[in-house]
Amino acid sequence: MYIISLKYIIMNKATRKTVIAGNWKMNKTPDEAVALIEAIKAEIAGKDTSGCDIIAGVPFVDLAVVAKAIEGSPIKLAAQNVHWAASGAFTGEISADMLKAVGAEYVIIGHSERRQYFGETDETVNKRTAAALAAGLKVILCVGELKEERLSGITEEIVAMQVKLDLAGVSKEDMANVIIAYEPVWAIGTGLTATAEQAEEVCAAIRGVIAKLYDETVAEATTIQYGGSMNAGNAAELLSMKNVDGGLIGGASLKAPDFAVIIGAAQ
Ligand code: 13P
Repeated sequence: MYIISLKYIIMNKATRKTVIAGNWKMNKTPDEAVALIEAIKAEIAGKDTSGCDIIAGVPFVDLAVVAKAIEGSPIKLAAQNVHWAASGAFTGEISADMLKAVGAEYVIIGHSERRQYFGETDETVNKRTAAALAAGLKVILCVGELKEERLSGITEEIVAMQVKLDLAGVSKEDMANVIIAYEPVWAIGTGLTATAEQAEEVCAAIRGVIAKLYDETVAEATTIQYGGSMNAGNAAELLSMKNVDGGLIGGASLKAPDFAVIIGAAQ
C-alpha cells in the first residue's frame, strides 16, 4: 500500500512541469538584459535542461530585446505585470496584447511587492489574471503570507484565501496556463528561506485548495513554485520536495552562474 501510494506521488511529480523562473524585478537596462541572457545561455550551453522550463521575467522595456536574445534557446519570456483592460486611458499601464506583441509568453501577477507597494489587491490580481488568460498569456500567480500571519499560525488560511480570490472565474481549462508561485513575504530578498518542509507544507496546501476549487486532476497537473531567497545552495533541497515544482527566483536569477546551478538542480 505504502509503495503504491509513493509511486503514485512520484509519478505525479514527474508528470508536472518543473519551472525555473527568474524575476529580475526592476533591474537591468536593455543592454544589460541582453548581456545577462547571453551569460545564462553560455552557462546552460551543452547541458541537458529538458527537465525544466526556464523563464526570464524582465522589466517591460527589456521585453523586445530579450525576446530576440532568447531565440533558439530554451529560455522563455515573462513580463512582471499586466493591466486588465485591452486598451484605453490607463497611463503607465501595459495590456496583455502589448505584451504578446513584443514576445512575452508569460506574465507574473500579484507579486507581493506589487501588493505591498502598489496597492495590488486580490480583486485586481484576479482581473489581471483573467485578462492575461483571455489574451493567451500564461500566468505565474504569486501568493504568500506576511511574517505576522505566519507567526499567528494563519499561513494556510491566508494563502488559501488568496488562491480562491485570485482564481475566481478561472476555468478548469485555463488552469493549464496557470502556475502558482508560493512566496512567503518574509523570505523575499531577506536571505531567510523557508525550510524545505515549510515550503512543502504550504505548496501541498495550495494543491489541496486547487483540488477543491477544480478537481484532483487539475491539482496534480498544476505547477506550484516556491520563491523567496532560493539560491544555488538551497535549490536542490527545496526542489526535492514532492509538491515544490520549481522556483521563482529574484536575486539569484541576476547571476548567470547561480541561476544555472538552480536550473541544474531542477533536472
Ligand atoms: P529573492 O529570490 O530575491 O528573495 O526574490 C524572490 C522573489 O520575490 C521572486 O519573485
